[in-house]
Amino acid sequence: MFVIKAKRGKERKVKNLYPNLFRDEIVDIIGEGDLGLANLFSSEDEFIGVGIFNRASNKPFRLLSKTPVEINQNYFTHLFKKALKRRAFLLNSSCFRLINAESDFLPGVIIDKYDNVFVFQIRHPFWVDYKSAMLDSLYEVFDHIQGVYERSDFEASPEESLQRHSGLLRGEVPDEQIIVENGIQYKISIPKGQKTGFFMDQRDNRLFAGELVERYQLQGMKGLDLFSFTGSFSFVMAKSGMDTLGVDKSSVDIDLARENATINHLEDQCQFICEDVFALSGLKREYKMIILDPPSLVKDKRERHFGKRKFTELVKKGLEFLDTPGIMGLCSCAYHIGIGELEESVRRGCEEYGYSGTIIDIGIQASDHPWMVQIPESLYLKCLWVYIDKL
Ligand SMILES: C[S@@+](CC[C@H](N)C(=O)[O-])C[C@H]1O[C@@H](n2cnc3c(N)ncnc32)[C@H](O)[C@@H]1O
Repeated sequence: MFVIKAKRGKERKVKNLYPNLFRDEIVDIIGEGDLGLANLFSSEDEFIGVGIFNRASNKPFRLLSKTPVEINQNYFTHLFKKALKRRAFLLNSSCFRLINAESDFLPGVIIDKYDNVFVFQIRHPFWVDYKSAMLDSLYEVFDHIQGVYERSDFEASPEESLQRHSGLLRGEVPDEQIIVENGIQYKISIPKGQKTGFFMDQRDNRLFAGELVERYQLQGMKGLDLFSFTGSFSFVMAKSGMDTLGVDKSSVDIDLARENATINHLEDQCQFICEDVFALSGLKREYKMIILDPPSLVKDKRERHFGKRKFTELVKKGLEFLDTPGIMGLCSCAYHIGIGELEESVRRGCEEYGYSGTIIDIGIQASDHPWMVQIPESLYLKCLWVYIDKL
């Protein structure tokens, strides 16, 4: 067990459940080795809490609990049940995120549920030795688990000293499976798809896109789904009566999107092309609703300026094809591009065309990806819905 002493005053945020203590906020580390459990104390020797310690990380201490803990199957069972209770509003849905890292008190662990198949993503080396205990808990909390797969093959920063890993952990996981969200079927691939297989955090924003088609009576008109992945925004627009074009640079996902269109009998309404959105040209100015849902374009604070420019470029690109008056949905999954930056990029884009922009609504990530007020970074997905018109 490591003992860590925080710099004077830096313990306050951790006391208030902000989980991370950065390297320059620590004055003393007592203990051998690089990885393990740690007790955190204030500069006045007050016990603050227990966390996981990774000497290599720029966030060496990450809080688990304000009281002593023993990490074993019971510990995970308690946390999984707690997370499930918090998601009671979702219990009619068979697919959701069960554990969203620190906002479910397990920093560095993500667990997604796709019907009876679960996916683990381990983003902190401390948990590597506890996979088996986590699996036992999962089987204790849920009945009829078909299998559990690990997708820890994301881009990790080298300083976290985490090995990338992907593979079957227990049971059976099919190469492909069909899930249902908001009444639409999606073929997903847990072993091969992006992230853990599907972007469940957009669930509510997708629903809202469908609602907007009805509110603004866009039935029979055209919708453009930029960064479409496997077609979800296209399908909600199409289900509400629009004809859509989806664009993504991943040919694997475009193939899957086409397959999904057929599965949902929407192949006559939904077209897909494989292209780089930033280089998109040759489309007519005929789209009444345009959704822009790019990948995270900004990895840290230093890239914020670059990100703002990229978002402005994207808005201008979208406006090239928008038939005004029309709707734009602009999403950012980068914490460092917030609502203010999105608003600014819409303002700059509109300036170029002499358009007005009125905010209709602001969406965030679905609440199985909890936004905790104590953790500002836990609000990462924002979606600005804007009504764009000529002056
Ligand atoms: C956040 S995901 C989109 C999720 C999707 N809208 C959904 O709700 O399922 C971002 C997508 O952008 C695609 N992408 C990344 N860079 C791109 C580019 N320059 N042009 C087109 N697609 C791109 C990725 O392949 C990925 O599918």
